[in-house]
This record gives sequence, C-alpha cells and structure tokens, in this order.
Amino acid sequence: MRKVITYGTYDMLHYGHVRLLQRARALGDYLVVGVTSDDYDRSRGKVNVRQSLMERIAAVEATGLADEVIVEEYPGQKIDDVRRLGISVFTVGSDWEGQFDYLREWCEVVYLPRTEGVSSSQIRAGGEPLRLGVVGTTPYAGKVLEQAACVDGVEAVDCRHSDYKELLDGLDAVMLLSHPREHEGQAREAMERGLHVLCESPASFSAEAESGLYALAQENGVAFVDAVKTAYSTAYDRLLLLVKTGAIGKVVSVDATCTSLRPDQTASALARSSSWSSMCAWGPTALLPVFQLLGTSFEDRRISTVLADGDPSFDLFTKIDFEYACAVASVKVGKGAKSEGELVVTGTEGYVYVPAPWWKTDYFEVRFEDPSRNRRYFYQLEGEGIPYELVSFLRTVERAGTCPYVTPGISAAIAQVVGDHLNGVGVRRLAL
Ligand code: CTP
Repeated sequence: MRKVITYGTYDMLHYGHVRLLQRARALGDYLVVGVTSDDYDRSRGKVNVRQSLMERIAAVEATGLADEVIVEEYPGQKIDDVRRLGISVFTVGSDWEGQFDYLREWCEVVYLPRTEGVSSSQIRAGGEPLRLGVVGTTPYAGKVLEQAACVDGVEAVDCRHSDYKELLDGLDAVMLLSHPREHEGQAREAMERGLHVLCESPASFSAEAESGLYALAQENGVAFVDAVKTAYSTAYDRLLLLVKTGAIGKVVSVDATCTSLRPDQTASALARSSSWSSMCAWGPTALLPVFQLLGTSFEDRRISTVLADGDPSFDLFTKIDFEYACAVASVKVGKGAKSEGELVVTGTEGYVYVPAPWWKTDYFEVRFEDPSRNRRYFYQLEGEGIPYELVSFLRTVERAGTCPYVTPGISAAIAQVVGDHLNGVGVRRLAL
C-alpha cells in the first residue's frame, strides 16, 4: 500500500484545502492528515487561528478524504511520523517549496501547486477589519503598531499624535496607552461614542470607577478590556492552571517583583517628567498573580513607598504586603530602584519559580524538595505577548462579552490598590 501524508492547520476549511487533500489522496492509496495542535501553532507564530483543534479535525474528517487524522505537536515530528507510519509520499502545497526536502531521506516529497486566491488568513480577515486607534506616545505604542500587523482582523491606526476627540471618528476601537490619569476620561468618551476600549491598566483609580467603566461598556454594547499584557502569555496562563490543579499543594505565599531602572534618569528628573510612576507602570502586572491565585478578598494590606523628592504622585519604589486568611503575598515595584524581577509561588508541597523578567515569561519551573520531581515548562512568547493580547481583545469584541483573562473583579481590585497608593490611604511614605 502506498501511504501519503500531508500537514496543515486547516483553519476555516476552504476550497484550497479540499483541493490539496484530493490531490494528495490521488498520490497513493491511503491518506494520513496531520493537523497542527493549538500550542504548536502558537509556538511557530500562528497566533490567529480561529478554530480549536477539535473543530479543525472535525472539518478535515468531514471532507471524507482522510483515512487517518493525526495531531502535529512538535518540530521534527514529520520525520517520526514518516518512519513510524511507513509513509511513501509526503506532500504539501507549493508555498512550502523546498522546506521539507530533508524528508527525501525517508520518502518521496511532492509539492503540489497552491490554489490561487484563497487562504485561511484571508477568510479570517474577511469583512471589515477592526479599526483600532493606538493612543499615547510611550515607546510601547510603537511596538503595538508594529505587532498589530500580524494579527488578522485588526487594522491598527497610528493615533499617537492626534487630537483625541477628532481621532475617535472613523475608528471601531481604541487602545489607550496614554498617561493613566487620562485613561478613565478617554475610555468613557470612547464608549459613549460606541467604540470598544482596550485600556492599559490601571484604567482608573478605584474599584468603584473601574466597575463604572464595565457598566458603561454594557450599557453601550461595547467591549471594555483592562490590559495587563502578561495575562495573555501562554506560559503565565499555564502556570496559573498548574497551580490551581494543586501541583504545589496549597498556595501559602505569592511574591512578585517588577523593576526597571533607566540609568539616564535621576530620581528628580523622573518625578518631574510625565512618566508613569512605579506603581502605575508596574503595580497592575505585579498584583495580577496575587489576585489571580489568592483572590481579591485579602484581610490586611500594608504599603510602604519611597517617594521622589517627597512627591506623592511619583514613587521610586513601593512594597505591598498582603495578608489573607491562609496565605500572604508581597509585591515590589520600582522605576527608581533595581531588584531581581522574579515570581515565586510558594506551596505546601513545592514552589513555582519564574526567573526575571517573569512578566515576559516563556519559561517556569516547578520545584520540590526531591529534585527528581522538578519540572521545567517552556512556551514560546511572540512579540512580547502583544499579538495574544490583541487577538483576545478581538474575540471579546466579537463575542460582545468580558475578557476571560483579566476579569472585572481583578481589574477593580488592581484599580483600588493603585488608587489607594496614589491617595496615601494606608501608605507609609518615605522620602529619600
Ligand atoms: N493550501 C493550498 N491552497 C491554498 C491554501 C492552502 O494548497 N489556497 C494548502 C497548503 O499549502 C497546505 C495545506 O493547504 O499544504 C494546509 O494549509 P494551511 O496553512 O492550513 O492553510 P492556509 O490557507 O495557507 O492558512 P494561512 O492563511 O493561515 O497560512
């Protein structure tokens, strides 16, 4: 028997896929189709795939052209499959011309002409793209504009130097990267005019104001998403899931540190500039694992902050200690001080360690007293996580729902702590 194998994502199955499968089948007597897993696609930079693995497999099976469907999960698997399944012919479309010649050592390799004029990317981008205005002049805004180019269905519009009221015309959504003081007003204005909002956290400075933003989104039938980029990274998300399964026993402590120090900026220059304070810049990210793992119902909270020139609106360094009924947490953030940017989740049976910079996490370790039980996990992170954040925002807009990653409750808790810090509520202020 002459066995043929072919691979693909087969997202939103289309005529080009069916034609390829028909011609692949005609090359032999038995066709094996390898469908890429969600993680594998993400790891090779395909962040846009709309359908789940199960939906894509079902679509391939429904063509009736595959005798067997397998899942492709790792680089190099094609060699394994060809040898293990006794494959005579490997085939893919001509867009891959030359890239699988290494398989000639084990089987025949055939590149079939790709069908012109149709692709999954085109279907995904179908209809009008979401016109997303990127507001704010931080260097991060430039990165977002760059990364948005690889997200189907989003057209990022450079609004870094536009007048806010005017720029809202002609947009479907805004991404607010302006100074946190401006977030709430800008978010309200956009939502009142029917625009969806993706707002860099903190969006406001109290739980009440934050809840008000979610309520306004609901009233106007738009999406409001509080953006903390780390929440969308696969490694960070898997870490949370793993801890929630009890892999390290009960969590007794979460300790997160985020600092960045620009050597060219002195403390007073930082304070005078319009730059984000340590708490605004890093607070939401550092608070995220605390609230996601231990919840938002802490019993006590102590904030100590080191101010630049005594200016309460600009902290060089802040430490927050939380006490929960059965656990504790600590958060350290700084733009005028440097420390090891790691995340440690302490459990009754082991701990999770994420090395610096944990907020750009693609790797973490689960460690135990007995080192033979230690495990390491790695998940590729594309574009610092920006594409994942944009894709997740797009899905929230499409579903007209709330974002599953940063929930309204977490947003509200973050806003309250950042606001309390700013207003000096329960804060021990230290001046250098
Ligand atoms: N294919 C084809 N003709 C097309 C589209 C895809 O022959 N118009 C082939 C590809 O060459 C590959 C298989 O179908 O062998 C699966 O391709 P896949 O990457 O899943 O589909 P695309 O439409 O190319 O997806 P994307 O736009 O996301 O790259």
